Amino acid sequence: MTKNAKLDFIDISATPRSMLDHLLDTATSLKAKYQSTGRNDPLATGKVLAMIFEKPSLRTRVSFDVAMQHLGGAALYISPAEIGLGKRESVADAARVLSGFCDVLMARTFAHQTILDLARFSRSPVINGLSDHSHPCQAMADLLTIRERFGKLRGLTLAYIGDGNNVARSLLEACARFEMKFRIATPPQYRLDAASITTACQTHPDFDFSATHDPRAAVQAADVIYTDTWISMGQEDEKQQRLAVFGPYQINSALLSAAPAHAMVMHCLPAYRGVEITDEVMDGPQSAVFVQAENRLHFQKGLLAVQLAGV
Ligand code: CP
Ligand code: NVA
Repeated sequence: MTKNAKLDFIDISATPRSMLDHLLDTATSLKAKYQSTGRNDPLATGKVLAMIFEKPSLRTRVSFDVAMQHLGGAALYISPAEIGLGKRESVADAARVLSGFCDVLMARTFAHQTILDLARFSRSPVINGLSDHSHPCQAMADLLTIRERFGKLRGLTLAYIGDGNNVARSLLEACARFEMKFRIATPPQYRLDAASITTACQTHPDFDFSATHDPRAAVQAADVIYTDTWISMGQEDEKQQRLAVFGPYQINSALLSAAPAHAMVMHCLPAYRGVEITDEVMDGPQSAVFVQAENRLHFQKGLLAVQLAGV
């Protein structure tokens, strides 16, 4: 990676496999260094990350901030009320101004187009910290977690159960890119959009993908069972109609009994315990949810090190 090249991280499908491998390897080595010595090299001294949030966050906000601190840099939290993105000021002008101050921008938005527009007009790299379309930092941290557990990615089966949402879309792209098998079980009215599936299958002709409405069928040969909330941020008004159909898609002991005993359970969090996942599973021996959450820090530290220091 050439120092100072603008490396946006918007989607897994838009990032070459060689760069994704490099990001995972960098994250792994920075994690090992941090865990063995309690520190990382100051790869981002004097650098500042701007974090724009149109939606709430615990993991994304804190892990990006801590990652910058570990690398010797700083992070600024910018709320929508402060900058009025697209209202007080156009997205293009905000990107131009912020990238004059800050070395990298991360944004969590409703519309994916806002992140694309930020990237278009920013001179600094832009990171997608979740949009209605995708959540690539989450999926890459998840791959890190899966690789740590199984020692590989290729050939593993990930079964996603629940809503065909932003997290599911990034996992689809991740599995396609890393030659993993992807199974998805959703209610008929909440399936993953056909365009995303078609693109993944056309770009990766050997991609082993199948969609069903039967969660037990989806988990049958799963190495990883993954779920997310049934009501994403911005969908709160749909809560009752969603709860009415998602019940059979809960990750519980009965569903785990239909899966291989070694299957690892993942959830990007925040979890609605007793809704999409039971306490018993989330706190059980197959759950990797808190390792997975911690790996947000390590993946993003790797990403920032590559973007800011060209490692
Ligand atoms: N998983 C995740 O992105 O969590 P936050 O919404 O808390 O950032
Ligand atoms: N699908 C969820 C993910 C939260 C991290 C949402 O968009 O709210």
